[in-house]
This record gives sequence, structure tokens and C-alpha cells, in this order.
Amino acid sequence: MALESKKDWILMATARSPTNIAVVKYWGKRDEALILPINDSISVTLDPSHLCTTTTVAVSPKFDRDQMWLNGKEISLSGGRYQRCLREIRSRAGDVEDEERGICIGKEDWGKLHVHIASYNNFPTAAGLASSAAGFACLVYSLAKLMNVREEQGKLSAIARQGSGSACRSLFGGFVKWEMGKDSTGSDSIAVQLADEKHWNDLVIIIAVVSSRQKETSSTTGMRESVETSPLLHYRSTEVVPKRILQMEEAIRTRDFSSFARLTCADSNQFHAVCLDTSPPIFYMNDTSHRIISYMEKWNRFEGTPQVAYTFDAGPNAVLIAPNRNVAALLLQRLLFYFPPSTDTELKSFVLGDQSIVKDAGIVTKEDMDALATPPEVKDNNASTQKFPGDVSYFICTRPGKGPVLFTDEAQALLHPSTGLPE
Ligand code: DP6
Repeated sequence: MALESKKDWILMATARSPTNIAVVKYWGKRDEALILPINDSISVTLDPSHLCTTTTVAVSPKFDRDQMWLNGKEISLSGGRYQRCLREIRSRAGDVEDEERGICIGKEDWGKLHVHIASYNNFPTAAGLASSAAGFACLVYSLAKLMNVREEQGKLSAIARQGSGSACRSLFGGFVKWEMGKDSTGSDSIAVQLADEKHWNDLVIIIAVVSSRQKETSSTTGMRESVETSPLLHYRSTEVVPKRILQMEEAIRTRDFSSFARLTCADSNQFHAVCLDTSPPIFYMNDTSHRIISYMEKWNRFEGTPQVAYTFDAGPNAVLIAPNRNVAALLLQRLLFYFPPSTDTELKSFVLGDQSIVKDAGIVTKEDMDALATPPEVKDNNASTQKFPGDVSYFICTRPGKGPVLFTDEAQALLHPSTGLPE
């Protein structure tokens, strides 16, 4: 049946994409419009069962304009980043035929058809947990599936990059490098997978969502100001990161946790030093973030070798990486010792994600938490044993995870199959 002959059909696709956390950070663009970075970066993709975006995209001749809903609320698609992603995907669309339903869309038809997009984060958008990375990765991936775009994942990553730089790394699972590229068109500024999520699956990741009332400078604005004013950023991108990328790739390849942790912490600290070197200075970390760094450093120093890696993006939340479940249990005990919930918070809403780590840490009730022993590395130092209830809103236990997946089950769709509006 030709496109024009019957107007009431709706074709949909639903996909899920992960977030990622950079262990060598992207900070600074050489081209603002195309989102081309000034250095390579490396990230770990986080398990989408704990942190992900789900997106349904739909197309129908009865839609009169492109529309998008995020977590149920309509948002504008007029911004340049959305427009660019939509245009890039549409220009690569292929022919689509659904024989059963009598739908036949030729690749030339896509320019005339409008899309509806509904996106949902399984974590609070306001928590500052890389929602734009998962969001743009999912938008591009699901549209590519709907429109039968036959490009390899690397090419799709270059489109997601134009939505938000860090999004290009969410097109792959496991360990991912975003190669900055040289081309002025951005064609070689793409993500590549270094290793899949099974390569180093002992790693456990605990995110501390730090309470904050402060509205932070967006990454986009922050990095623009750093590029314009920070001499340290220039040194970092030309002298430090190229070597660090090679060392990080080697640490990941050989699963060398000590090197991985040292490089991760050093890179996070240098990124925040660049923020301080920016004029006016940008403060993403707060007192709680600084306390977490200092406790982790004390523990690592006490043991003589890194037990845990820490890293912070453009906000106060800490991402802590432990080499295995045993160390992760010890880490969680420490975190709950220093940062217990405020009195009215239940344990089960305080530690989210992979509950088995909580069990491994021997914490079943709030009483278990109250009974946690002072960590040996601070035992002789009274000042450090102070507790800060409520300073961490909650923790999420997770692990390295896989890249985007398409759902075949229609029940997962966020748009109604007959109206194309949010469910
Ligand atoms: C600190 O990807 O959010 O998280 O490209 O302007 O959308 P835009 O910025 P964004 O920046 C992320 C910066 C970071 C480090 C990283 O993820 O590499």
C-alpha cells in the first residue's frame, strides 16, 4: 500500500540506552556547532538496568509536526542539537516495509513525515547523572532503527555526538574511547569500543548522589569558559591527555586496577583543577565531594595500593569504582558509616541498584548501619570519624554494562500504538 493511500498507520520503535562515566574526561570543544573535542576521552558504560534512557519513536502520516516528551512532559525540539540529530538521521533513512500492516515508506518519504518521540529516564533527571548522554544516544539509536538507517555504530556515534558530546560514547557497552579526530567535518570524531562489558566484569561501581541546592554551570557553558580562559586546559589537552589515553587503554586491556584507579583519580582531579583555573572559577564539587575524596585517599594510602577509584563530572556526585565485590562491600560499609541517611530515610530507598552488594556488606537493617565499625584508616584520628547524615541523598550500586538495545516487545512502548501520544 502506497504511503499516500492510507493515513492512519503508526510505525514505532523502542530502544534503551545506557549512560557512561568518563575516566579520561572530555572538556573543551574545538568546534561548538559540530561538537568536536580538543582531546580524546575514555568512558565506562554503566549497566542500563540501573541507569538508562528508554525512548519510543513513532512516525505516521497523521502527525502534523515533530514532537517530543521527556518523562511525560512536552519539551521543545527547536534547539539546534535536536534539529541536527533529526536532520542527520533523516538524510540517511532507508526504505521501510511492513508487509503485514501494509506500510511502505520509501527513503524519499522520510523528509515529509513527522516523528513523535517519548523518552523516559529510570533515574532522576535532576540528579545530574549524564542524562543527556543516554538521552541523545537513545534518540539517535531508536530513530536509526525506525528509519532503517544502515550505518555502523561508529557513524551513529558521530550523529549522537552532535546532540551532546558525551552521548557518542553511550552507543557502545563496556569501555569506550571517543577519538577526537582531525577532520573539520567531524566525520572521524567517533566512538570506538575498547572492550565489551564482559572484559572486566568484576568491577563494581557505586554512585553517591550528593545533596546539593546549588544550580551548576552546564557542561556546555563551563567548557566554553575553560577553553577561553584556562591555560591549564591547553596544557592538559596537548601534553597530559594523549599519554594518559595510552596508559588508560593499557590498564583496561590488562585489567590493571592500580593503574586504572590512579589514572582515573588523577584525571578527575585535573579536570576540576581546570575548572578552578577558569575565569571566573567554576566549582562543581562541594564539601561532601571533597570529603569523599579525602576518605578514599586515606583508605587507599592505608592499604598501600588503590582499593577504589573516584571520579566526578560537572556536579558534586561521586562515582566510585571498586575492583571486585569484596572491596565494594568494604567500600559501601565506609560510605554508609560516614554518610548515613537522615533519620526519616529507609535503607531500601537509600541504597538503590544492585542490592546484592548491600547484602554482601552485611547491612540488612538500619541497626546494622548504626553498628558499622570505624574504618581502621581513621581509627586514631578523631576528627575524621565525624558522620554527615543526609549529605548523600542516596547511593546507586551498579557495574559496567552493555550498549543500546532495541525492544521487540510492544508493551515497552512509551507512545500509544493508535494515537502516537504518550501512554
Ligand atoms: C564532565 O557531553 O554534557 O561529563 O557536549 O556540551 O553536551 P556537551 O557536553 P557534555 O559534557 C560532558 C563533560 C563531562 C566529561 C565527560 O563526560 O567526558
